[in-house]
Amino acid sequence: MDRELDVHLDWQGDTILVGRLWARSRGQRETASFEYDAAWIAHPANFALDPALPLARGQFHVGGLFNAFTDPAPDRWGRNLLKRRERQHAKAEARQPRTLLDIDYLTLVEDVTRLGALRFAEAGTGDFLSRSDRPIPPLVSLGTLLSAATRVINDKESDDDLRLLLAPGASLGGARPKAIVLDQQGHPMLAKFPSPTDDWPVPRWEATAMELARAAGIDVPVSYLHIVKKRPIFMMQRFDRDETGRRIPFMSALTALGASDGEVRSYIELLDLLRRDGATPERDAAQLWRRMIFNILISNTDDHLRNHGYLRFAGGWRLAPAYDLNPMPTDVKPRHHALTLDGEDDTASLDTALSVAGYFGLTLEKARSIAAEVGAAVLAWRDVAAGLGLTGVQIDRMASAFEHGDILKAVA
Ligand SMILES: Nc1ncnc2c1ncn2[C@@H]1O[C@H](COP(=O)(O)OP(=O)(O)OP(=O)(O)O)[C@@H](O)[C@H]1O
Ligand SMILES: [Mg+2]
Repeated sequence: MDRELDVHLDWQGDTILVGRLWARSRGQRETASFEYDAAWIAHPANFALDPALPLARGQFHVGGLFNAFTDPAPDRWGRNLLKRRERQHAKAEARQPRTLLDIDYLTLVEDVTRLGALRFAEAGTGDFLSRSDRPIPPLVSLGTLLSAATRVINDKESDDDLRLLLAPGASLGGARPKAIVLDQQGHPMLAKFPSPTDDWPVPRWEATAMELARAAGIDVPVSYLHIVKKRPIFMMQRFDRDETGRRIPFMSALTALGASDGEVRSYIELLDLLRRDGATPERDAAQLWRRMIFNILISNTDDHLRNHGYLRFAGGWRLAPAYDLNPMPTDVKPRHHALTLDGEDDTASLDTALSVAGYFGLTLEKARSIAAEVGAAVLAWRDVAAGLGLTGVQIDRMASAFEHGDILKAVA
């Protein structure tokens, strides 16, 4: 089936047509074309949505879908919900379930909660996809959403569970169970749920990592741990919405680097977009180096290219706040990162990070002092974890993520 979509961008209160997207499929094979609207090319605030789509006239073509349009599409968790709904519909209509394509996933998620500032409509209609009549649920719905998510993971969900979860739950990427809810002030929050398949209380550890990151001087979203029915939920304010609820454009590091999922790239390459078109490149480069040190010291080895991103402001791109920070014990996974630190070596190592500090605009002395600050903050990990309700046994179980030569070197 071929699709023709108008691509819009919300920018500082306006909704601007930026281009047209054609998506085609022949069996399982998908291809796409995109063309910028002439008015966007001439717009004073214009920017390229993807390095594969430079601001120029004419059509661009790709196998699959352009990375810029996979950022605002669901990942494992959202896709799983949408597949389940398709099976449910197929059963009710006594037909075979359809294989959903990338373009289906992109357009089936809710417009209001979609990541970043891109919006999609069937060509010429102005009707944004997808819009249900369900509002974003309030904080008090978390218990119901958590129970529904748990039943999905246990393959025991009802039709109602899926209906409840889909609108607020499918839009953002990632594999873990999650949903968007509004807090008391009406801010959209990302709620990350515990899963019955977890080997440790993941939301409590993610809350611990966030608190340590904040203390280590890393830009992080407002976040807190919320206990519902005695179960921990990690809550984080959305960084792609401003205080008034306006959308802020987002680009993942995967898109910025023109990479594909699973490809090993390096922290140094995350500097490229900041150097090329950054609003505050020196500041963000230093932030990025601090983040790399933090990830080394807490053994956050799942620091892949979709776990870093950029936000667009009037002056250019800025590094998005850090998110998806999780310690990983060494009995489960060795201390090797998803990105290399220096273009070659993915081994967690303060020495390797120090050897590339110059690329981040830091003198060795400045770099050492940042490492010492991050190290001092991370040393408090046992107290912070205990404060977030982790027991002594649970804390000891995570010790290998935090107690290693690198932290001793950082604070030496
Ligand atoms: N605070 C936030 N505001 C807006 N978007 C966010 C925020 N945190 C994460 N995201 C977006 O949602 C996606 C999923 O979030 P996150 O990475 O925390 O989930 P996850 O399921 O743990 O991911 P993974 O599959 O990498 O383990 C991220 O890749 C990012 O694009
Ligand atoms: Mg993630």
